[in-house]
Amino acid sequence: MKQRIGVIEGDGVGPEVVNWGVRVLEAAARLPSAWSAPTMGPLDLEFVKAPVGGSTFLESGQVLPEASLQTLSGCHAILKGPMGRPDIEAGVVERDGILALRQHFEQYINLRPVKLYNGIEAASPLKDSLLKRGVDFIIVRENSEGLYSRMGGITETSATDINLFTERGVRRILEFAFDLAQSRRKNLVSVDKANVLSASLFWRRKFEAMAKTQPQIECSSQLVDSFCLLVLQDPSPARWDVVVTDNMFGDIIADEAAAIVGSLGMSPSANLNPRGIGMVEPVHGSAPDLAGQGVVNPLATILSCALMMRHCLEREDLAIRIEQAVQSALDEGFRTRDIAAGAPACTTDEMGEAVLKYLQ
Ligand code: IPM
Ligand code: MG
Repeated sequence: MKQRIGVIEGDGVGPEVVNWGVRVLEAAARLPSAWSAPTMGPLDLEFVKAPVGGSTFLESGQVLPEASLQTLSGCHAILKGPMGRPDIEAGVVERDGILALRQHFEQYINLRPVKLYNGIEAASPLKDSLLKRGVDFIIVRENSEGLYSRMGGITETSATDINLFTERGVRRILEFAFDLAQSRRKNLVSVDKANVLSASLFWRRKFEAMAKTQPQIECSSQLVDSFCLLVLQDPSPARWDVVVTDNMFGDIIADEAAAIVGSLGMSPSANLNPRGIGMVEPVHGSAPDLAGQGVVNPLATILSCALMMRHCLEREDLAIRIEQAVQSALDEGFRTRDIAAGAPACTTDEMGEAVLKYLQ
């Protein structure tokens, strides 16, 4: 069966990194299955472009044209590049593009794996002694509610953003996080601000109630300020496995976590709806100042494509192949500028080619 992949190139460095995402997906799809399951032959992928974002807005007057939404609705999964342009008012592309897509497809789960790849420790601001046991945890960010509910408003004299949490919204993200912890190292930390915010207190109560029903998972809660400190003092896999949190805190701690593992250029993400269409994207932005120079790191996008294989196309075997190819390219010494730590850097295309070589 043909699987259709929607491709949103985005703005700035978007087209450069998305190009490598597509090429890696194509190469991985041609691989024979690593497993013996007879249903797991090569994948038959078909790519369709759907313009969304700042440049689309300047051309058509719409950030997310109806035709693009139609195209994407007919896809099995979506690969999205970063979007946003300095010549468009801040917030327009975010609201009408990125958040509108997540909302339209009801992608209430935002998965952000935080993994330190071997050999790039020097790109992390943390000292070696803190990194010697590696870093390998995963942030499960609630992706539809909280301060991103888009309820509230602004006047000349005041502004509000409603931090909305619903029973259904909190339950479904916690259930996903518990299931994920069950499939990993069975350790789940919930991050909130329950000592101040009612919304967080609500979240914590639901979390603690669910924890009681799942005694096989080691559960704890951390206040978000404390979490930000503790994860810098000890980012090791012994300390963190699955970290579940709300929309706003997840946004913030994902960037802190990206620094720990060397670069936003190493940070992939997946917006998921278990019964709908998933959308993967690098955590980084469109970096207009770097566009067209061939210096941007394509690995965040390539690793996002691994997440597509794992979570949208049910091909864990191919997800692993892509992640191994990334490690092999790094082992061979390829480093884009963001992870070169002062050493000579390779280009976007050299890094992409290096990964591709290990997917033949
Ligand atoms: C992210 C981004 C987005 C978010 C913005 C661009 C809307 O920061 O994906 O982390 O806040 O979710
Ligand atoms: Mg962010």
